[in-house]
Order: sequence, then C-alpha cells, then structure tokens
Amino acid sequence: MCGIVGYVGHSAGRGNTEHKALDVVLEGLRRLEYRGYDSAGIAVVADGTISSRKKSGKLSNLIAELEAHPLPDAVTGIGHTRWATHGGPTDMNAHPHLSDGGKLALIHNGIIENFAELKQELTAKGVTFLSETDTEVAAALIGDLYRNHLGGDNANGGLTKAMELACQRLEGAFTLLAVHADQPDVVVAARRNSPLVVGLGEGENFLGSDVSGFIDYTRRAVELGQDQIVTITADSVAITDFFGAPAEGKEYYVNWDPASAEKGGFPSFMEKEIHDQPDAVLQTLLGRSDVDGKLTLDELRIDTDLLKSVDKIIVLACGTSAYAGQVAKYAIERWCRIPTEVELSHEFRYRDPIVDANTLIVSISQSGETMDTLMAVRYAKEQGAKTVSICNTNGSTIPRESDAVLYTHAGPEIAVASTKAFLAQIAAAYLLGLYLAQLRGNKFQGEIKDILADLGKVPAKIQEILDNAEQIKELGKDMADAKSVLFLGRHVGFPVAMEGALKLKELAYIHAEGFAAGELKHGPIALIEEGQPVFVVVPSPRGRDSLHAKVVSNIQEVRARGAKTIVIAEEGDEAVKAYAEHVIYIPETPTLLAPLLSTVPLQIFALALASAKGYDVDQPRNLAKSVTVE
Ligand code: G6P
Repeated sequence: MCGIVGYVGHSAGRGNTEHKALDVVLEGLRRLEYRGYDSAGIAVVADGTISSRKKSGKLSNLIAELEAHPLPDAVTGIGHTRWATHGGPTDMNAHPHLSDGGKLALIHNGIIENFAELKQELTAKGVTFLSETDTEVAAALIGDLYRNHLGGDNANGGLTKAMELACQRLEGAFTLLAVHADQPDVVVAARRNSPLVVGLGEGENFLGSDVSGFIDYTRRAVELGQDQIVTITADSVAITDFFGAPAEGKEYYVNWDPASAEKGGFPSFMEKEIHDQPDAVLQTLLGRSDVDGKLTLDELRIDTDLLKSVDKIIVLACGTSAYAGQVAKYAIERWCRIPTEVELSHEFRYRDPIVDANTLIVSISQSGETMDTLMAVRYAKEQGAKTVSICNTNGSTIPRESDAVLYTHAGPEIAVASTKAFLAQIAAAYLLGLYLAQLRGNKFQGEIKDILADLGKVPAKIQEILDNAEQIKELGKDMADAKSVLFLGRHVGFPVAMEGALKLKELAYIHAEGFAAGELKHGPIALIEEGQPVFVVVPSPRGRDSLHAKVVSNIQEVRARGAKTIVIAEEGDEAVKAYAEHVIYIPETPTLLAPLLSTVPLQIFALALASAKGYDVDQPRNLAKSVTVE
C-alpha cells in the first residue's frame, strides 16, 4: 500500500500559474505518508527531460535530497511514498522507476503477479534491471511498448496507448502513474484492484491514491472504476478502459477536512483500518499461487529439503500477533501434521525450550521490531533452528535477522491496537501452512487449490460484515457502561475470543477475558451473574457437529446463570437464536477460515464501545504500537 500523487498545470503565463508540480506533489505526499513511509520519490517533466529524485526512509529524507539537488521548475510531476512489497526499502527500489532510456518515469502501488515472466521476456530483449521491484518491470514493459511497438510516435496514441497495451498484459493489483519526456504536459494513470482518484482543478488536474493527495487544491473529485486508464492534462481528463473504449468515472464533492481525508473520511485510523481489511487480506493472498493452485512463496528462501525435514514448529509472537499464531496452529497442524506450539516471545527463552535444527520458528510481528520477539528469534537461531518471519514491515529487524520472510501486505497500521495486520497475519500463516503441506505432500494439489479458492472469497465476505455493521455498533454504544465483558470460543474460536477481549481492554479499558468455552465449567463460570455480557463465537453447524453442539450447550450454561449472551454465528444457524439475546450473523465459510470473519464484529464492537466512552481509539493510554524494549 503506497501513496501516489500526480499533477499537471499550465506553464507560466497561462491559467493557474502559482502552483509548481514539485510543491503540489510534495504536499500530496506529506498527506499520503500514512500509506507508506519507507521511501519516497518524485519525477518532473521539464525542458523535454525527466528529472527524478528518490530516497529511502521518510519523506524528510527526500526533501533533504531535493534541497541538496534541486529539481527544475515544472508543471507536470508524479510522486510516490512507498510501503515496500517487492524488494526492500532501499534507494534503488524506491519509485519512480525509469525506462525508455530515462525518458519514461513510473510509480506504482500494488503487486504485479506475473512480473517474473515479464521480466524474463524483457531481459531476453536486452533490458537490464537495476532494482528488485515488480514496478521496474512494468516501467520497462510500458517503455518497450511505447518505443518498439508504437515507434515512439505520439500519433499512435503515445503514452496512453502504451499504458493500455501494458495493462492488457499485467496481472495482479496496481495503480500506475507514468510521465514521458516526449509528452511533457500529460500524466497517464491506470488502476486495477488498487485505488486512484482524479482531482479536478481550474487549469490544473490531479491524481491521488485518495483525495488527501490533492485536498489542499480542490474538492472536486472523480472516482475511477475498475480496469480504467485516465489521461490528464491541465485542461482535460480522458478516461478509457484497458482497450481504449471511452469510459466514465463518478464525480463527487469532497467535504472532509484534510485530517479526516487521511483517514479515508473515517473518524479514526482504527476505523479506517478495520475497513481496509478486505484489501489487506486480498493483497496478502495476491501473487502467491498459479492457476493450478501451486504455491510459490518467492520470499521463502529456505532450502526445501530443510523445510521437508522440519519436525516441529514453534510460533513466537506477542499481543495480537500471538493470537494470530494461535489461530494458525489449528490450520498448520491439520494441513501439515507437524506439531505446532505457540509461545509468547518473552516466555520462550526463559524456559530452556527444546529447539534444534529440525525446528522451524515462525515469528509473527506487525512491526518487525518487537524486542521480545526479536530476542526470542535470536535465541532460537543460536540453537540451530530455521527462522521464518511473518511481518508487515518490509526491511524491519526481525525479517532481516530471519532466514526467510513472508510479508503480509496490509499496508501501514497506524492505530496502536492491531486490526488489519491480524487478519493479514492469519492469511499469511495459512499460506505458509499450505505451502508446507504442498512441499511435504500432505495435501493433494487440488485440495490446496480449493482452500485457496475459499480464502480468495474471504475479502468479499469481510466487506459484507462491514456493510452490515449497524447492529454491532449499536450494541457497542448500548454497552458503554459495562464493567466487564466475557468472550467464549472453542477451536479456532478460542483465540478469536481472546483477541476480542484484548481489543476491549486496549480500547475501552474495561475488564474483559477470553475463555475456551469448554473451560468455563472448570472455574470461570463462577464469574457469571445476572446481566453479565458474554460474547460467544459459535462454529459453523456445517462443520464438525460436536463442536457446534458443545458451544450451544455452553451458551445455555451461561444463560441459565443470568448472562446476557451475544452470539456470533454463521448465517442460517437458526439453532442459536433460542439462546441468544443478540445474534450477529457472519457469512458462511469453512471452519478454519472463520476467524478471518468472526474477529471483525468484535473489533467493531470494541471500537464502538470505546468511542461511546469518548476515548482516543488510535492511541489508547499506556500502549505503544511498537514495543522495542524487553
Ligand atoms: C504492542 C502493540 C500490540 C501488538 C504487539 C505486538 O504491544 O500494542 O497491538 O499486538 O505489540 O506487536 P508486533 O508489531 O510484534 O506485531
């Protein structure tokens, strides 16, 4: 998830002369920095050439670079703030990427799934690549089409036509913005499964990942549809599909203030991030398998023989990430038949754990900087274990120190309490589990393909929950005075219950506990008194019969003792209605994938309750996003 800005104005003496491309683009990048901040870059077209600067690190590094090496005045420019996916956060991997002998500059948000195949093709044609990015491959493809297919002749459609032809070849998710030295007053952009908005000005036009990219200049915006290309000049906006047929966007007026624009119009980053979840899961799944469902986890550079010889997995993590690990344990053990333990990182190394060369350590960390997890990984490495990191932050310490990494592509998570990273971690851990099952022959390729297909349906189902969240929001508001809330779950629903309780503790500062439903009778049931709110995560009735029936009896047990039960159940599960004060229905999905859905209402509940209490949900008291002390 990167931030993208584009601008075209009029040259001095015409139209709106006060804006320079550099200023507009930098201001847009500043507002979009929440989308990614591991490197930034900018390209302008002036005097028939492209000039560009790019720098790893925060935007301030790029600004320092621009002060040291200023760019020429220009009225056409593009800018990018990066959240690394392909290739680490280095100067070289930063965008823009150039092609056509330095005459074309491209920036990109998303993942090009077929980049390896295209790279091979272009390399055979003599193209050389400087970076590890998929973006440079797209730049080279557009450059090659412009120069060699269209003869570099703008009468043949120029950059717009080259973009069209390239988009017909590209697979995956992408927003692309390109400028060319031969067409100095044009920015061409394309989008598929990745955001792009046009800003309409007077004698100037804008492009942004979202409206915060240009909100300081105009409030008139056009939302582009899927698979569309837009060509902007200072006075025109032309939209087509990927085959050149004219298309239309949807114009609207933006009445958000700039601060809420950065939050996508939501009152908090947390609410925005909850709504980012369909995309976070989609992006994490993208580009990992071929049409036959064969997984190719490129980043997982551990010798396959070593992975085949693994006889134990230990998942190490803290906080929400540890609950993602607990969910993953159920899937990994079922699919791979490898004993899997989940341990809090800070407990791990103090108990003399049994770790050897056949142990695979899977660390899970959103930030990649949690000191407890880093120290545990180091300890495990010293004992000879192989280490894989599941991480959301490219180039951070834990993946750097691990033997291999599987990045989640949730984009930056700003709110302290984790939401979208949690779902992305589960998705990534599932990919790892399926990959091991594939490698070790525990599952037929067809079975893996079916599970991947079910996973592929999850983003739309999360969206369905988000679109129908009124009931759970109301509940959150109504329960603002609750002193304590309990959460029950069984099987994968157990870690979901614990995560639901954690969200409530973190955001609303009220006592909350998640229990294994079966453990209730061994003690916690004594907590139940008249009116005690209890959330129950109910497994699908289509899954193992006994699981569903047992949880239904647990609901009865607490209800009989006066609990107010709020039940999260699968659509069509009529049996639970009789025992629930409230039923929150979620779409049907296989049992192992259910946490990707059942967690979402619990996040929304905690957010609504904390908001009703007037608390700062993005920065709850006493907490830090990244805990870099032990
Ligand atoms: C902190 C945060 C939690 C997070 C945990 C692990 O305690 O407040 O929200 O789950 O760290 O962070 P990590 O970056 O390693 O996933």
